[in-house]
Amino acid sequence: MPAPPDLLELVVAARAPQAEGVAWLELRDPRGAPLPPFTPGAHIDLYLPGGLVRQYSLCNDSEERDRYCLGVGLAPDSRGGSRYVHFALQSGARVAVGYPRARFGLAPAAGRHRFIAGGIGITPFLSMIHWCERHGADWELLYCVRSRGRAGWREALLGHGARARLHADDEHGGPADILAWLDGQRPGDHVYCCGPGPLMDAVADAAGRLGMARGSVHFERFAAPGETVRQGDRAFTISLRRSGLELQVPADASMLDAVEAAGIATPSSCREGLCRSCEVTLLAGIADHRDYVLSDEERAAQRSVMLCVSRACTERLELDL
Ligand code: FES
Repeated sequence: MPAPPDLLELVVAARAPQAEGVAWLELRDPRGAPLPPFTPGAHIDLYLPGGLVRQYSLCNDSEERDRYCLGVGLAPDSRGGSRYVHFALQSGARVAVGYPRARFGLAPAAGRHRFIAGGIGITPFLSMIHWCERHGADWELLYCVRSRGRAGWREALLGHGARARLHADDEHGGPADILAWLDGQRPGDHVYCCGPGPLMDAVADAAGRLGMARGSVHFERFAAPGETVRQGDRAFTISLRRSGLELQVPADASMLDAVEAAGIATPSSCREGLCRSCEVTLLAGIADHRDYVLSDEERAAQRSVMLCVSRACTERLELDL
């Protein structure tokens, strides 16, 4: 089936095991056409059978225009996405892909980039490291894995010498001491973390204890840490200015659910507040932002809202829909 016009239809040109539980894939245009550019740390959405949409960081050099490379970890509790990529998406298969999106990227003003990766969370840093090497930017990496065999791209990364440190939990009897690694922060340093929730929490905690400025610590999430609807959530009303509709959002449903139930087609992808595809302009009211993509400034500005997870602090929100 051809990809919808707003998606790219690419072919799996190559694939290979990269480490224990990690598959590497190379996607190309079937006719050899150049692909839309991307920035270091950007990701794409893969549109998989059964309506699954999964996000994966692009891990090749962003100067390359002829291919997108991905690293996909096999999630033990996979809802189908990583399992499909590992066992069904073979070389030669066609796959619909969204255009690259830059939700996570290098801070232009940083004097040094300090990357902390957990497991498959290494992938966005691979394109960032390519960029740093190409442009002579200062960087270092702490790469945390449960065991050495699970560390994809290990040889290439360790080839950078003292810049890249591998921490295998089973060799050290436990997780890395994040506070110790982060200590020694210099003015102008920026810290970036991608990995499982406990690692992100440890980095956030250490950054707080070391008094790092919030804007200098960056996180990339690929799974929302909690339920999107919480106990105690209340119903509220949304007014859709362009459609002229007024809808009730029940306590146990999202704005996106309500809008779709009313027959209004609106883009969405992750449905967890991670991808920004369901963002709409907020015309009136105050949103309770529960996404992971808006900056503190964007939250405070109350100009847009993610329909899939956010709720209302006021009785009513007016949306540009
Ligand atoms: S669908 Fe991804 S943020 Fe809402």
